[in-house]
Amino acid sequence: MSNKMWGGRFGEGPDRIMEEINASIGFDQRFFAQDIRGSKAHAAMLAEKGIISREDADKIVAGLDAVLSEIEGGKFDFRRDLEDIHMNVESRLADLIGAAAGRLHTARSRNDQVATDFKLYIRDTLDHLDEQLRDFQLALVARAQEHAATIMPGFTHLQTAQPVTFGHHCLAYVEMAARDRGRLADARKRLNECPLGSAALAGTSFPIDRHMTAKALGFDAPTRNSLDAVSDRDFVLETLSAAAIAATHLSRLAEEIVIWSTPGFDFVRLPDSFTTGSSIMPQKRNPDAAELVRAKSGRVIGALTSLLIVMKGLPLAYSKDMQEDKEAAFDALDALSLSLAAMTGMVRTLTVNETAMRAAASRGFSTATDLADWLVRALGLPFRQAHHVTGALVAKAEKKGADLDALSLAEMQEVEPGITDEVYSVLGVDNSVASRTSFGGTAPENVREAAKRWGEALGQAGQ
Ligand code: ARG
Repeated sequence: MSNKMWGGRFGEGPDRIMEEINASIGFDQRFFAQDIRGSKAHAAMLAEKGIISREDADKIVAGLDAVLSEIEGGKFDFRRDLEDIHMNVESRLADLIGAAAGRLHTARSRNDQVATDFKLYIRDTLDHLDEQLRDFQLALVARAQEHAATIMPGFTHLQTAQPVTFGHHCLAYVEMAARDRGRLADARKRLNECPLGSAALAGTSFPIDRHMTAKALGFDAPTRNSLDAVSDRDFVLETLSAAAIAATHLSRLAEEIVIWSTPGFDFVRLPDSFTTGSSIMPQKRNPDAAELVRAKSGRVIGALTSLLIVMKGLPLAYSKDMQEDKEAAFDALDALSLSLAAMTGMVRTLTVNETAMRAAASRGFSTATDLADWLVRALGLPFRQAHHVTGALVAKAEKKGADLDALSLAEMQEVEPGITDEVYSVLGVDNSVASRTSFGGTAPENVREAAKRWGEALGQAGQ
């Protein structure tokens, strides 16, 4: 049998393989709610403009509500021979209300319909991701408040560089998440124009009111060019690119958690609820959730790349290639959402080993810069020379197998005779972090202040 929705000029039905490659119902059924919402708005507008009768529109709207409850109740039979969600819904509507169903598709096409549905779906997803990113920020802010003065080594090249506070480190990710939210909000703002009524590609001869449907669906305005409206997928690309950046941020934190929880570092311990054991090595506590967050960023980046490749060669307007926009986007946005939930859970529940962090911060000559700065301040040396003197002192300490503050004053004076015992006050890690009071620096007082500001900005409970 030929397709009952578009089979008018076809003598026979599609090959089984044709049906399989053509159908999208397996994945686009996910936006049934958006599809029905769009159709209801369209029917109401058609009646308002006298294009269909009020009576038919009422039947259509009631019928669509019935289809919606069937789907929500798990009582809907999704049929692959009906290709996609649009035709599945419309066909079932015809079963339920008869001939009036055939009037719903007046002055629209699946091309503007799918663009509208997908925009509505992406918009809902962006709103959800924004809430999740806020939760992630709140979890980090709470840890930053708790650990404003907890000292850990700061790294460059993953080599101990200078002591920082764990709170400061947490707030670094709060800043990244804020920019991620900004990018998602930006994508949302730009996508919020309604394609419905652009029809197949050229608009329609029916006297529709596109402003009315745009408004009913919560869009700021109708799109201005019908060709663009049905062939635009930059709203998906933009969302995926913001998602890829957010996933990359999560992946970096995941990598840090993996490193920090190895026995070699022992900075943090994940709770049992976020680790797994090994079937052969009883001592293992594997940070699987963090590893998977790190890995899932690959899916998000991959989805962005594959959709860019799908789109890059397509002439205007719609081509069926564009049906391939959905699976990768769904997969990527699901992965990001799950990663955010897992990462927020880990941040909330990990235990911080302050002793191990402090001990590591004290090793590796992490206060060498403080020493050089002191030589500049107290002895008036030019920084380059102070750097050189400090280098010589580090070499001496290294030879002795000790830290800088284990050098005696006499040993220091062999390198630079002007050094006094005041120098020891800058060699401790507490003094080092406390002195970093420049705007954006790691000093505990800065961190407390920044965490408080973030708590207020995010509407943290108890602020
Ligand atoms: N399932 C299709 C998609 O996802 C809907 C649009 C079909 N349009 C068409 N002209 N065949 O892209």
